[in-house]
Amino acid sequence: MIYFDNAATSWPKPPMVVRAMAGTLSKIGGNPGRAGHSLSLCGGRVIQRCRELLAEAFGAPSPEQVIFTSGCTESLNLAIRGMLFQGDEVLCSHAEHNAVMRPLRELEAAGQIRVRVLRPNSLGLITEEAIREAVTPRTALCVLCHASNVTGVIQPVAGLARVLKGYGIPLLVDAAQTAGVLPVSLRELGADMLAIPGHKGLLGPHGTGVLVLGQGMLPRPLITGGTGSASESMRQPEQLPDRYESGTMNLPGIAGLLSGARFALSHRAEIEAYERELAERLRRGLGQLRGIRLLGHPGADKVGVVSFVPAFTDPGELADRLSEKGFALRAGLHCAPSVHEWLGTLRSGACRAGVGIYNTEEEVDLLVEAVARTLGAE
Ligand code: ALA
Repeated sequence: MIYFDNAATSWPKPPMVVRAMAGTLSKIGGNPGRAGHSLSLCGGRVIQRCRELLAEAFGAPSPEQVIFTSGCTESLNLAIRGMLFQGDEVLCSHAEHNAVMRPLRELEAAGQIRVRVLRPNSLGLITEEAIREAVTPRTALCVLCHASNVTGVIQPVAGLARVLKGYGIPLLVDAAQTAGVLPVSLRELGADMLAIPGHKGLLGPHGTGVLVLGQGMLPRPLITGGTGSASESMRQPEQLPDRYESGTMNLPGIAGLLSGARFALSHRAEIEAYERELAERLRRGLGQLRGIRLLGHPGADKVGVVSFVPAFTDPGELADRLSEKGFALRAGLHCAPSVHEWLGTLRSGACRAGVGIYNTEEEVDLLVEAVARTLGAE
């Protein structure tokens, strides 16, 4: 199997991630923060170490402002549902994932908020002008994906953040495709909150993620319950991170995330350069095949997500045929229908290859060859 579905989840994971998870389950299985015995304390230290690492990397004002979640979807839901009030307006881009669009549209359908989708320019980029045109006195939040999970196009978030700051509008950045690969931090991007998956660029396991809260960001919790603190009170603790972390923590997952993130963040610049090189090679190779449309404007800067549409074959069928030949890709709409609508590919969908650190140039060439042969055999 040659794995090219790294935009969905990175795989394989570095061996130390597997070892950290197995070691946690076999040696420190206590419930962190719930007792004073050594197993519970040891688990708590693993979680704290991971919190500190991610706080430092993503520029959180304090480690307690790194909130562990089950993934980027929960992080986005927490930020979106927790920040908005009746009558608010929200700005977002055309490239948002359903993890953003579904909560937003649900709140809109309930008559609570109004959603304004920012129009991109011909490169697929949101402009400062588009933000200025869309802002109203009711605008309470802007949600932007750092890079599209369909085209890979990177939004000029820092510049847009400066405009939003001028209006006092908080910015939530969906860093699903960029954390661990591009420079991502509250400071660098000018963001107020960052939603980050643990299982993609940070090389951790499924079911892990964080919401990084900037200064003054205190969304209402999505769930309440036991936190191992202030147990005499029937009210959810206000203190961070307990306010958001009810229930038993995903200790094996966080231990794996700590190992994966340590590796990814210490090699981030090399990973970025390597994945850019592989993706460029893949785009070049596929671009030379007749009847292939590559998604994402050639002039726009992109991460290692390469989507393409064959002229005469259904992308789902192509992905199935490639799977039979041993290649793992993802076809369809990639849970991001709005960007497909904008691209005119809502009916066809696309075939997507996401490159990762374990892919090689040879694998990229084999994929191009396999696509050529599969389509040539039509
Ligand atoms: N959001 C992930 C993807 O783009 C699952 O495939």
